[in-house]
Amino acid sequence: MKGPRPRRDLNILAMSSILCLFGLVLLVCNVVSIEAAAQDYTATSLLDEKQAELNTFVGVIEANARNCDALKTCSSNTSCSRLACYEYGTQGDANYKCLGVLSNPVCGTDCNQRNFDYTKSFIRRADSFNPNIAQTVCTQRTLDDQFRRSSIGDSTYLFRVFYGSMDGTTRLYPGLDESCETDYDPRIRPWFKESIYVPKVVTILIDCGRSMRDKLIGATNDQETYISKEINAALAVLNTLREDSDYVNIQCFDRDGIKPPGAKSQRYSSLLYQSFSDNLTQIANGGITENPSLINTTDAIKTAISELTNDASPAPPDYLKVILMFTSGEQYQNLSELNIPGNSSVNVFVYNFLKTGQTAECNPTIRASSEEISVQRYDNPLLFLESFYSFLAKIHQSVMKTNIDFGEQYADYSGVDNSTLTLSKAAFGPNGELLGVVGIDFFQKKVDQQFPNIRFQDIVIAARNHPTFKFDPNALTTTVCFNHTETCPGIQTDVPGFLCGTKTGNDNIGCCGSCTSKNTHRLAKILGGVFGSLAVLVIVFGLCWRWDMKRNRSF
Ligand SMILES: *[C@@H]1O[C@H](CO)[C@@H](O)[C@H](O)[C@H]1NC(C)=O
Ligand SMILES: *[C@@H]1O[C@H](CO)[C@@H](O)[C@H](O)[C@H]1NC(C)=O
Ligand SMILES: *[C@@H]1O[C@H](CO)[C@@H](O)[C@H](O)[C@H]1NC(C)=O
Ligand SMILES: *[C@@H]1O[C@H](CO)[C@@H](O)[C@H](O)[C@H]1NC(C)=O
Ligand SMILES: *[C@@H]1O[C@H](CO)[C@@H](O)[C@H](O)[C@H]1NC(C)=O
Ligand SMILES: *[C@@H]1O[C@H](CO)[C@@H](O)[C@H](O)[C@H]1NC(C)=O
Ligand SMILES: *[C@@H]1O[C@H](CO)[C@@H](O)[C@H](O)[C@H]1NC(C)=O
Repeated sequence: MKGPRPRRDLNILAMSSILCLFGLVLLVCNVVSIEAAAQDYTATSLLDEKQAELNTFVGVIEANARNCDALKTCSSNTSCSRLACYEYGTQGDANYKCLGVLSNPVCGTDCNQRNFDYTKSFIRRADSFNPNIAQTVCTQRTLDDQFRRSSIGDSTYLFRVFYGSMDGTTRLYPGLDESCETDYDPRIRPWFKESIYVPKVVTILIDCGRSMRDKLIGATNDQETYISKEINAALAVLNTLREDSDYVNIQCFDRDGIKPPGAKSQRYSSLLYQSFSDNLTQIANGGITENPSLINTTDAIKTAISELTNDASPAPPDYLKVILMFTSGEQYQNLSELNIPGNSSVNVFVYNFLKTGQTAECNPTIRASSEEISVQRYDNPLLFLESFYSFLAKIHQSVMKTNIDFGEQYADYSGVDNSTLTLSKAAFGPNGELLGVVGIDFFQKKVDQQFPNIRFQDIVIAARNHPTFKFDPNALTTTVCFNHTETCPGIQTDVPGFLCGTKTGNDNIGCCGSCTSKNTHRLAKILGGVFGSLAVLVIVFGLCWRWDMKRNRSF
């Protein structure tokens, strides 16, 4: 009776071994599968994936921009867009994922966690009184679906995507509560500037004539004059320049002369900003009267052109040359009266502040355009300068072709990381107008933590490995001519309910109190997996052992 027993033994041994092996495999698989997703990436493939997604987002934005039908349904409580400064804790905070950040400034220096909402993007505005804003926010709300479906919607990792539009609105995903006490203006952020960058020298001519010193009609503040709006616009432009690279000059002209006298373009810096700001304030108050040669609109442009094209001009000769003129529009009937020379390499944008009944005009031969700006846009100068920024963005795009932009690393606005690399790209509307810029953030610490076999530095190197911006003014084919796209019919400043919630000024916004880990970390998952697998192993071994015992007893 020896025959069958060893075979049965063998069978049982094989079976228990297989079961135990299965348990072991389960354990390994559990750990490996969690790491696998991250392991599959290389610096290049991670970058490629985000680039492809950025291109998709740009395509969606461009298609959405003219979808006026979307405006009919944006006010319902399910399709309104959420302001970042909604009072924390009043709605939807169950969605939050708590993630580690460099610092959470709203909660003091010790808080290194912040709540992110992966179900939707949040909105920030730099200006609340413009019809464009309702249109942008409403028509672009389908971006949330795109964001959620992209790799950025996977809360295992932290990347952020934002769409900053020309009107100063930003849609940020995943959503993050922020204090809205200070405005967030995407148009002066490094990634936005990067995607419209052209090395340039800009002369801003401010009309300081008598009519510009009049009080603004219908102004809320009785100190407001046309000249104060012009000065605000000039200073806003300075904030969009690249420090230590672009050159700038601001001159004030009227029949008493150009002020400050004879100032040349200088390389832009924050120090220079302060100097201009101080001088312009003095001028607005009626100070600085020197060099009383008669200067009208025509002469001001002529003087500025000769300064820009003069051999003694401090700006490098291969820089793009631009004049932005803010004037009443009273001194000329049409562009031809401005006597701009046909062979000038200077691009001239004239913006008229007073209603003179002139139609917008443009002449590609003399590289000049002139248009009236509406009162509604006085307080959003970067928006009324749409033609200038669209011009820059188009030049940038034509030089860079289909490439995506990368700037230097910088500290992101929300305190996630002090070393952030953003890839960005501009989106254009039907008439070639700049709609805005889309950016995707790579956070150094997050990449290092979440992708163990990728070095953040390799992403930076891969990103840099693309053609650098090389602008050739002689090959400039981009025209200064620009057709505005009308806003959707019937759109008003106040589309009731297109934004969920209002600013409340709650100090606890973005808050730490409930900023506790919700088991979403990689480590937590791995530990969960390890313990889960161990439990399975214990059971399997237990079964094997019991089976063996039972068998031994029965024989
Ligand atoms: C939306 O509003 C309607 C009434 O206006 C209400 O019945 C419904 O519960 C609301 N839905 C959500 C998700 O708040
Ligand atoms: C401001 O005015 C002073 C005095 O006229 C002048 O020296 C200085 O260059 C001006 N600043 C700029 C930035 O033009
Ligand atoms: C502008 O001033 C110049 C002289 O400085 C004069 O020749 C010209 O006619 C003026 N143009 C206008 C439109 O007033
Ligand atoms: C510009 O206006 C002047 C009159 O001020 C007129 O003679 C001229 O024909 C106009 N030119 C164009 C191109 O409209
Ligand atoms: C433009 O033409 C004028 C004469 O019409 C000439 O004096 C000037 O040098 C030319 N400028 C350039 C940059 O060719
Ligand atoms: C970023 O912050 C860390 C501290 O969290 C600090 O050690 C590091 O020097 C900072 N880097 C930069 C570029 O500021
Ligand atoms: C602007 O509109 C005019 C007339 O409607 C058209 O001829 C021109 O091609 C347009 N320009 C651009 C840049 O779209």
